[in-house]
Amino acid sequence: MRDLRDRVAIVTGASSGIGKATALALAREGAHVALAARREHLLQALAREVEALGREALPVPTDVTKREQVKALVERTLERWGRVDILVANAGVYVRSPIRDLNVEDLEFSMAVNFYGSVYPVLEVLPHMEKQGQGHIVLVTSMDAKKGIPPDTPYVAAKFALAGFGDVLRQELHGTGIGVTVVFPGRVDTPLIENLKVPWISAKIPAEKVARAIIKGIRRRAPEIIVPWQARLLLYAHVLSPRLADWGVRFFHLEGWEEETTP
Ligand SMILES: NC(=O)c1ccc[n+]([C@@H]2O[C@H](COP(=O)([O-])OP(=O)(O)OC[C@H]3O[C@@H](n4cnc5c(N)ncnc54)[C@H](OP(=O)(O)O)[C@@H]3O)[C@@H](O)[C@H]2O)c1
Repeated sequence: MRDLRDRVAIVTGASSGIGKATALALAREGAHVALAARREHLLQALAREVEALGREALPVPTDVTKREQVKALVERTLERWGRVDILVANAGVYVRSPIRDLNVEDLEFSMAVNFYGSVYPVLEVLPHMEKQGQGHIVLVTSMDAKKGIPPDTPYVAAKFALAGFGDVLRQELHGTGIGVTVVFPGRVDTPLIENLKVPWISAKIPAEKVARAIIKGIRRRAPEIIVPWQARLLLYAHVLSPRLADWGVRFFHLEGWEEETTP
């Protein structure tokens, strides 16, 4: 999908961070954008920014954990533009809890947003993309889906699940004209982790950098995107030896420091 002009995109988690930056990047490339998240006033403000770029925007307040709301999001997009070319399933929450303190509700909440909250939009757009014979699906997971970082079990488990879903989805859709890109960002400077200080080696990158990588991924139909590239080092270490990568996580304090527990 080289030319994004006049394409129709849906972005979930568009009210903030990576989703907002991606919606604007898509609009700059010429796409019209359906904006989904729960905070309507932020979606309305973003819609004005998209329109200022000369593109159309459709803010649709949506809780991605509610299948009916996701269905309505896709229906409204189709009513407005008659098609959906791109889905960026990006909405997410950061849920961390050491396993000894873990309650099942933390896991269920993380799965509801980070896994099912991306699966539902995929299931809703897929029949339409299949009818169109083309489309592109972007799933935003995390580097945590390549190498788990303690004490993030609820987040890591959901992101691993989403990465696995995306890996199979891409292969099943081979030859249909529908591409799938799974995105694995490292630490990104957004409200999601604003209370987390991170070591220099995993310094936070701007959301716009992830958005640019997503645009490139859509254009090239890249199967996977790891951003920034340095994050690959941990993955390579893990492939070589999980024990070595575990050591790296401990040595560099990749879990970071929550504001109130900063030494
Ligand atoms: N920041 C990082 O370091 C980092 C690293 C790797 C991966 N990621 C992933 O990148 C994605 C975007 O995160 P971000 O960093 O941009 O964080 P963010 O600025 O906090 O944005 C999260 C977005 O998700 C939306 N959201 C949360 N729960 C939702 C729900 N139930 N229904 C609909 N929307 C919901 C939020 O909107 P509302 O609150 O308005 O609903 C918001 O727009 C997430 O999937 C995250 O896991 C982030």
